[in-house]
Amino acid sequence: MTADFHHRLASVASEIEDVLVTIFDVATDPPVPARLMSAMRYAVLGGGKRLRPFLVVETARLLKGDSGTALRAGAAIELVHVYSLAHDDLPAMDDDDLRRGKPTLHLAYDEATAILVGDALQTLAFETLADAATGADATIRAELVRLLAKAAGAAGMAGGQMLDLEAEGRFGAASALSAQAIAHLQAMKTGAMLSCAVEMGAVIGHADAPSYQTLLSYGRALGAAFQIADDILDIEASSEELGKATAKDAARGKATLVGLWGVDKARVELERLTAEALAALDSFGPEADILRAAARFTADRRK
Ligand code: IPE
Ligand code: IPE
Ligand code: MG
Ligand code: MG
Ligand code: MG
Repeated sequence: MTADFHHRLASVASEIEDVLVTIFDVATDPPVPARLMSAMRYAVLGGGKRLRPFLVVETARLLKGDSGTALRAGAAIELVHVYSLAHDDLPAMDDDDLRRGKPTLHLAYDEATAILVGDALQTLAFETLADAATGADATIRAELVRLLAKAAGAAGMAGGQMLDLEAEGRFGAASALSAQAIAHLQAMKTGAMLSCAVEMGAVIGHADAPSYQTLLSYGRALGAAFQIADDILDIEASSEELGKATAKDAARGKATLVGLWGVDKARVELERLTAEALAALDSFGPEADILRAAARFTADRRK
């Protein structure tokens, strides 16, 4: 199953890459300024696990939803994700110099360009979802727009990034957060986008109410697990493996369960959440094995 999973993840990543290239290749009037287009391509193409698109595509596939719609929706959520990484890496935020094995966008270009790339990728994501090329059903397109806007916004990823910086002590005294407060921060900054990917797949597959709830529980547990794994990798993996700097969270005073509890107890919580994600899928048969493998991958990954 592991080999199957990695094969499938690579295959979806390659399909998503093609869709992203197609989106960038659309001629606009007026044309996108060359420096901005070059920086957008640098940030988006040729890297990343593409896990959020994978979750959109595989959830839609489980429910026999339209695969073309799922690929476009997957590309859209990846555009928002890459925008969030470009801004997360800025000197004003995490101040990182390596991303996906390459110099971060603001080092390869400059800070102003990295800010504008984020702005442009975010709006391109919503333009992509709203475009009739994403699917004939305008109600579904509007729901995909709503879900992604909510997940990325002030009560989702952007809000979670605010809590992350506040906890570091950026705007006053650093606060020692409880495990519950850390889980809340992480559900917003990371969990929202991952569970949104699953929800988009559920919408594309016309999930009935019970399946929708089941998949939502799966997405939330997987999303929580994902950031704990990221925080463990910050300590245990090498920068070569990860393609980004490591051992940076403690130095910056990031609020993480690893920082609060240590790696061993954080790993117990990671396993608990993975079991929760798997249990959520109990009502599905073997056709959900690929989503089960995605939950295992989230916990066991080395990058
Ligand atoms: C990194 O996300 C940022 C977090 C939410 C922890 P990923 O680990 O999915 O990064 P890529 O897309 O594979 O580069
Ligand atoms: C980032 O979390 C979450 C985002 C919304 C981008 P991190 O700051 O831990 O992500 P990395 O470790 O830089 O990828
Ligand atoms: Mg950060
Ligand atoms: Mg960061
Ligand atoms: Mg991290």
